[in-house]
Amino acid sequence: MLRRGRNVTERVRIVEVGPRDGLQNEKTEVNSEFKVALIGKLVAAGLTTVEATAFVSPKWVPQMADAAEVYAQIAKRPGLNFPVLVPNEAGYQRARAVGVEEIAVFGAASEAFSRKNINASIAESLDRFRAVVERARADGVRVRGYVSTVLGCPYQGEVPLSDVVRVAQALHRMGCYEISLGDTIGVGTPRAARAMVDAVLQDIPASALAVHFHDTRGQALANIYACLDRGIRVVDSSVSGLGGCPYAAGASGNVATEDVVYMLHGIGFSTGIDLGALIEVSRWISAKLGREPASKLARAGLFVPKPA
Ligand code: HMG
Ligand code: MG
Repeated sequence: MLRRGRNVTERVRIVEVGPRDGLQNEKTEVNSEFKVALIGKLVAAGLTTVEATAFVSPKWVPQMADAAEVYAQIAKRPGLNFPVLVPNEAGYQRARAVGVEEIAVFGAASEAFSRKNINASIAESLDRFRAVVERARADGVRVRGYVSTVLGCPYQGEVPLSDVVRVAQALHRMGCYEISLGDTIGVGTPRAARAMVDAVLQDIPASALAVHFHDTRGQALANIYACLDRGIRVVDSSVSGLGGCPYAAGASGNVATEDVVYMLHGIGFSTGIDLGALIEVSRWISAKLGREPASKLARAGLFVPKPA
């Protein structure tokens, strides 16, 4: 069971990935202006880390072709972070040309997924990332690292925990300040999630870890709860449960930010996020995309008890 000190409200940091993980797989065309508006609304709701876009090949992910335009138009302020995905040196150069201050490199624990997603073996990808991380650190740019398919792979099936640990270790050692452990296709259950985090914790402290759950099989909140129990205090999520991965068939959206925040506040963590405002953002983006929000909370609304 999750046990915490009674007097201190512990904080959980949410990394909002909707504008990137959410929109990278979107069939409806979403223009740059709209993406920038979405990021602004998320910040207004209290999100301080919003993964803004991806400087990947536009041939691979056309939805992110406007990365430079989007990043350039975001209203930046001290205290706000707008990390972007960067797969290689070409992406790093494009990102730096518009003044990006934080990047995320993204590897996988599954060899098959690595090849499908970034056209490289795990070993090749780590060599690429090492060169990018070295340059970034020399430029004073912070680097986050992702490990995908930590609980299963759509191409390979089972992913040995030793491979998750090996890739997480490599990213951490090369200088990523935080490693986000991704259940890319949402196959995990709390027991598997806990075992995976426990294995990584043998080598990397909880303070340098984040979890990234897709809610494909409805397990994401339970998995997050299990990981909070292990000391994880950074959670990736996507407003309205937007998203998926273009190179992982069957991947649904990330767990919805508003559902995560509702749970966190309910069990006594603070997030700095205004849940009412976030629900409005969720409904706004869903209306724009012409669908119902995928989150339970945006459908049901906040529960406001009637006075006795
Ligand atoms: P490649 O085809 O092997 O790359 O792709 P290449 O170096 O041979 O270049 C091919 C062409 O792309 C060239 O152009 C390059 O200039 C260009 P051409 O000469 O043909 O005109 N190119 C670029 N253009 C712009 N920006 C760049 C760039 N790099 C090359 N950065 C590559 C390799 C890595 C580029 C490609 O596979 C790629 O972009 N993959 C990205 C796929 C992706 O974005 N997937 C989704 C994100 S990961 C995810 O969602 C999981 C996560 O959420 C965690 C989880 O859920 O587990 C993070
Ligand atoms: Mg993802």
